[in-house]
Amino acid sequence: MARVKAFRASILHCLADPGSDTGSNAVEYFDDGVMIVADGFVSEVGPAGALLPSLSDDIELTNFTGKLIIPGMIDCHVHYPQIDIIASYGEQLLDWLTRYAFPVEGKFSDLSYASEVANFFADALLRNGTTTALVFSTVHPQSVDAMFTAAKQRNMRLITGKVVMDRNCPQGLRDTAESAYRESRELIEKWHGDDRLGYAITPRFAVTSTEAQLASMGRLAQDFPDVHIHTHLAENKAEGDLVAEQFPWSRSYLDVYQRYGLVRERSMFAHCLHLDQEDWHTMAELKASIAFCPTSNLFLGSGLFDLHAAEQAGIRVGVGTDVGGGTSLSMLTTLSEGYKVLHLQEQSLAPFKALYLATLGAAKALYLEDRIGNFSAGKEADFVVLDALSAPMTARRLSHTDEITETLFALLMMGDDRSVAATYVMGAPAYIASSAA
Ligand code: GUN
Ligand code: ZN
Repeated sequence: MARVKAFRASILHCLADPGSDTGSNAVEYFDDGVMIVADGFVSEVGPAGALLPSLSDDIELTNFTGKLIIPGMIDCHVHYPQIDIIASYGEQLLDWLTRYAFPVEGKFSDLSYASEVANFFADALLRNGTTTALVFSTVHPQSVDAMFTAAKQRNMRLITGKVVMDRNCPQGLRDTAESAYRESRELIEKWHGDDRLGYAITPRFAVTSTEAQLASMGRLAQDFPDVHIHTHLAENKAEGDLVAEQFPWSRSYLDVYQRYGLVRERSMFAHCLHLDQEDWHTMAELKASIAFCPTSNLFLGSGLFDLHAAEQAGIRVGVGTDVGGGTSLSMLTTLSEGYKVLHLQEQSLAPFKALYLATLGAAKALYLEDRIGNFSAGKEADFVVLDALSAPMTARRLSHTDEITETLFALLMMGDDRSVAATYVMGAPAYIASSAA
């Protein structure tokens, strides 16, 4: 017998890309809604008036009336080893890596340290309403074991991989073309497809890999066509200059990855701030995806992402917090900064579109839209219960409206982990705020 549960609340999810439309039929909204979950999968969402009478008496009904349920949010680019250097002062990318990121990543040779950080990180994702993430580990295979173990214990859908880098970084953080291939392959065989876990081949960025190493990752990608590829692209001007120097034959930064077969379906490129028209088209043609990382791009002084250009080209786009270059694990906070970045460029980020980028759009960018991203029947029941009234300023703002676009927009602009009353993973509570318990 299926274990059936029902949840009553306002319910909002995307059925398609709402585009720049403010009042779109690409979303489905039930002011007083019910979601029915059977064995961890969505079986139905609809108006409470229609669904409640059909529920048998023995079904567990959780009442979140007054709160808003949305799909679990998806962070398309984040570094778990960097949570202890979040908000480190003063540098742009290359100096920030040398001064802050590389030293902290050195500590992950120690499995017990890695496990402590991975557990904290997984709980922090859930506290922020993030149920799936594409995560950088470090060069150490045990850092990947620690992250997958923490995610598996929480039944989270999570993708990570061992960083590979064999130049331009401290000696203790280097592997080689051969060891990177061997260790990554062993980790794929150990973890990819175990429960809800997926593997990402993770060359840090072109600067820290020799051509031999990029070629070995291209071979691995060919050997395992259904694993993800995860790296950085065109984030910072000085970084771009280095890439042009190190790969003098390349037409562009993207061309380096393309040469080695690393641009394809399930490739996720973080940042993409300094691309030309040919790059946009190549990414679209090869079906690669982009993680828009607004807090990081502002914090590290990297630049402004051109969402319009990416969408005109037809590229799948998700949003990444990019902690520790980014300054918050909250997708709400990150979308708020994304709104401002786009506004500065006379582009818009309508509330439903922002929701899409953190849910169904991100699921598409990760090629996981058949599993997560909205509440279509059969999807995994990962969801967040948002409480717009938990913060006095938001509560006051919303006392003037009951319009869902306004409520959502205020939540996006002002919300953070305090707005999350509960997070559910496959229909089971994974985080309950103490104020909601
Ligand atoms: N490029 C290469 N490594 C990193 C990193 O750790 N963070 C960011 N933001 N960019 C990178
Ligand atoms: Zn990053």
